[in-house]
Amino acid sequence: MNLEHAMQERRSIRGFTDQPVSQDLLEDIIALANRAPSSMNTQPWHLHVLTGQPLEQVRKRNTERMLNGTPPSREIEDYAAYEGEHRDRQIEIAVQLFEAMGIERHDKERRQDWVMRGFRQFDAPVSVVVCFNRALLDNTIAHFDTGAMTYGLVLAAWSKGLGAVINGQGIMQSPVVRDVANIPDDQVILTCVALGWPDEDFVANSVVSRRRAIENTVRFLGFGD
Ligand SMILES: Cc1cc2nc3c(=O)[nH]c(=O)nc-3n(C[C@H](O)[C@H](O)[C@H](O)COP(=O)(O)O)c2cc1C
Repeated sequence: MNLEHAMQERRSIRGFTDQPVSQDLLEDIIALANRAPSSMNTQPWHLHVLTGQPLEQVRKRNTERMLNGTPPSREIEDYAAYEGEHRDRQIEIAVQLFEAMGIERHDKERRQDWVMRGFRQFDAPVSVVVCFNRALLDNTIAHFDTGAMTYGLVLAAWSKGLGAVINGQGIMQSPVVRDVANIPDDQVILTCVALGWPDEDFVANSVVSRRRAIENTVRFLGFGD
């Protein structure tokens, strides 16, 4: 698959088959993502790849805590609720996903079910917990570097026929993930990536999120002078 095709076609995948993903394939994908650029080549990221029992433990304990009202707990500074145009885009993608899934606006039960699926990382066979070195916690460039690597990971997965969704929900109860995956103290949990073979029959997988026109995001200077 060429890069242009992968970048154009990739979308978040939130429904997976039960087929396992081999460690060999995951190593290939991670080796590609590992080529990501980083500030002064610092490469601050660390990955913890969970499947099987450990991942089931994370799902179970995440779900328990969300259901018993344990407040979310993340290791990076949490953002306030999105407002204005950012909130509008957040709502737009939610509406697209709910429409695809046939979840009505007032169907509280199915909406809640969808949210809980998110906390289970969409029942994906693999979760990659993305961390970076704690010494760089206040250095936002490390967040940027780790994000660049994470996009590389998702694209590399796509190029091999795998689907993925970067998801904050899976690490919303970070103490659970830290405990189960035995994350070293000198690492900070940033996010996670749910990954597996896409379920072609899962309708939300075909949702294509919209983008702002680049006319609204870019200025060109000095061209055509
Ligand atoms: C940092 C980050 C966190 C995300 N967290 C979630 C999440 O918790 N649940 C979810 O369903 N999607 C999550 N997503 C996926 C976004 O909703 C998705 O990338 C966006 O709507 C654009 O859609 P696309 O990836 O299909 O192009 C996250 C993406 C990023 C980059």
